[in-house]
Amino acid sequence: MIASNDIQTIKNKFGIIGNAPQLLHAIQIAVQVANTDLSVLVTGESGAGKENFPKIIHQYSTRKHNKYMVVNCGAIPEGTIDSELFGHEKGSFTGALTDRKGYFEVADGGTIFLDEVGELPLSTQARLLRVLEVGEFIKVGSSQVLKTNVRVIAATNRNLPQAIKEGKFREDLYYRLNTIHIKVPPLRERVNDIVPLFTKFTTEYAEKNRRPVISLTADAQKLLRKCYWRGNIRELKNVAERLSAIETENIIDATTLSLYLPDQAESTLPQLVSKQDEGKTFSSEREILYTVLFDMKKDMDELKKTVKLLMEQQKGNISNVSSSVISNETALLPMAHAHSNEPTEDFIEVQEYDEEPTLSVEEMEKKLIKETLEKHNGKRNIAAKDLGISERTLYRKIKTYGLE
Ligand SMILES: Nc1ncnc2c1ncn2[C@@H]1O[C@H](COP(=O)(O)OP(=O)(O)OP(=O)(O)O)[C@@H](O)[C@H]1O
Ligand SMILES: [Mg+2]
Repeated sequence: MIASNDIQTIKNKFGIIGNAPQLLHAIQIAVQVANTDLSVLVTGESGAGKENFPKIIHQYSTRKHNKYMVVNCGAIPEGTIDSELFGHEKGSFTGALTDRKGYFEVADGGTIFLDEVGELPLSTQARLLRVLEVGEFIKVGSSQVLKTNVRVIAATNRNLPQAIKEGKFREDLYYRLNTIHIKVPPLRERVNDIVPLFTKFTTEYAEKNRRPVISLTADAQKLLRKCYWRGNIRELKNVAERLSAIETENIIDATTLSLYLPDQAESTLPQLVSKQDEGKTFSSEREILYTVLFDMKKDMDELKKTVKLLMEQQKGNISNVSSSVISNETALLPMAHAHSNEPTEDFIEVQEYDEEPTLSVEEMEKKLIKETLEKHNGKRNIAAKDLGISERTLYRKIKTYGLE
């Protein structure tokens, strides 16, 4: 057990704000296991602060004078990741003009942080398992077994048990990485940390840009604490910095603050998941968004069908509408119009809607990706984060949809 003033020292050293018991517990575990060689898996939502933990572990271990390497598994193309991690021999593939050392060779004696480990291709997962189990690896194009002594810390915001079920992640590797599990709590589960974090970011901004520090009214603080914070601390930081940069008043009330907060519809998304969806597991909130969108689209299609039938019925073309095509909810609205004095106006609007091209799932996804890329001026890493997918998945989709 580490004394609480030692935890405070660590928090100061790594710029960690917050007093939530789950956060303090996570720091406690990191320090406790630092001096072992056990693999550690850090999980938590995007922007929750996972990257602090491998740093703490390395710094508090006997490896601290050796290399600490961060590998973003989601950003390395599938074709080169084995060579990046384990090296290759000259001539092992087109473009391999010289021998190359991989990270596991370079970081011998140190620590490797495998960020976004859930994005590793299955073939690389097999190689990684071998290094973790026996400390051995083979360079791409070689047959010589090499030894290394590397401490591995991995992180992911993906639901790995779900990825295992889908056949995308090896179960044996999961257990091997998960020897020690550090769970970083999402911001919404540590609401008392929200205002102190916000203050840290606005103060830092003010100091850096020589501006007066802004402060929040009680109502604004309440609003900040109520937000869903899908992007966690990263999103909070973004709001704090935008507000500091744009607002000229030093005291910010709830109305002004609300202009900078994420879209509440998006923030409350998980609550949109209905009872019938409860059995489903979603690997990301983006997936929930898609599900909700598709359900809405299905409802819309049904509504359009109903309206069409009713219009035809009104014109006298159909004498008997089958009740099976009219669901209870969708029947209510057009029926009311059918008996009103102005029967056609609203129907005309719906008819116009009917002529709009209906987007397929792929087209919707393409549109979403295109817009997100535009929003971030083509910056793929930021767009990928915003979309809740890995950079590699984004690269693949950009290629597939010809968005280059
Ligand atoms: N406790 C904290 N106090 C202050 N700042 C923090 C804290 N935790 C994280 N941050 C800051 O929040 C931002 C996001 O943290 P980080 O990059 O560790 O998120 P992450 O969990 O790795 O997210 P992702 O899964 O998207 O990679 C960083 O700018 C980091 O410095
Ligand atoms: Mg990260």
